[in-house]
Amino acid sequence: MKAMKQTAANQDAPKSQDDSRLRKFFIDEVKDIYWAEKHILKALPKMKKAAACEELQNAFQTHLEQTEGQIERLDKVFELLNEKAQGKKCEAMEGILKEGESIIDETEDGTATRDVGLILAAQKVEHYEISTYGGLAQLARTLGEDEIAELLEETLEEEKETDEILTGIAEDDVNYEAVEEAA
Ligand SMILES: [Fe+2]
Ligand SMILES: [Fe+2]
Repeated sequence: MKAMKQTAANQDAPKSQDDSRLRKFFIDEVKDIYWAEKHILKALPKMKKAAACEELQNAFQTHLEQTEGQIERLDKVFELLNEKAQGKKCEAMEGILKEGESIIDETEDGTATRDVGLILAAQKVEHYEISTYGGLAQLARTLGEDEIAELLEETLEEEKETDEILTGIAEDDVNYEAVEEAA
């Protein structure tokens, strides 16, 4: 963490050599989140369909549209890196999304309990994204890639907002309703 903090002040860092080890690592991580976003895009319609509460359905719909834009931003990032847009399997996201699917399988349709589970699963996705985009934006600055950093920061803000919206839905409605539900 210390090294990252030091570079935060260094906004005018020169662009790194194309073949630097850090740059290669960065590109690999961008491929990882690209794979993740594409799979999130496939999972969101299923989550929307599974949700009982309309507010939650709307939140998933909004984030679905945002995710399309986030993939476009990553396409732009690849372009700026002179790299082919390509995903690399993200084992962590695969696991998180599988967990979300099992929540749908294990809960009953139309229940607030399922919505609680969906929110929990979706927030795990958002937290993974927040840490990834936060780290990558910082790394882009270190590499002197400010334009890329800005693109990643825009997405980071959307992920944070989504996380807050989900917390709001859980706190205001869904959790209380779920408590009332019979086992
Ligand atoms: Fe995303
Ligand atoms: Fe997200």
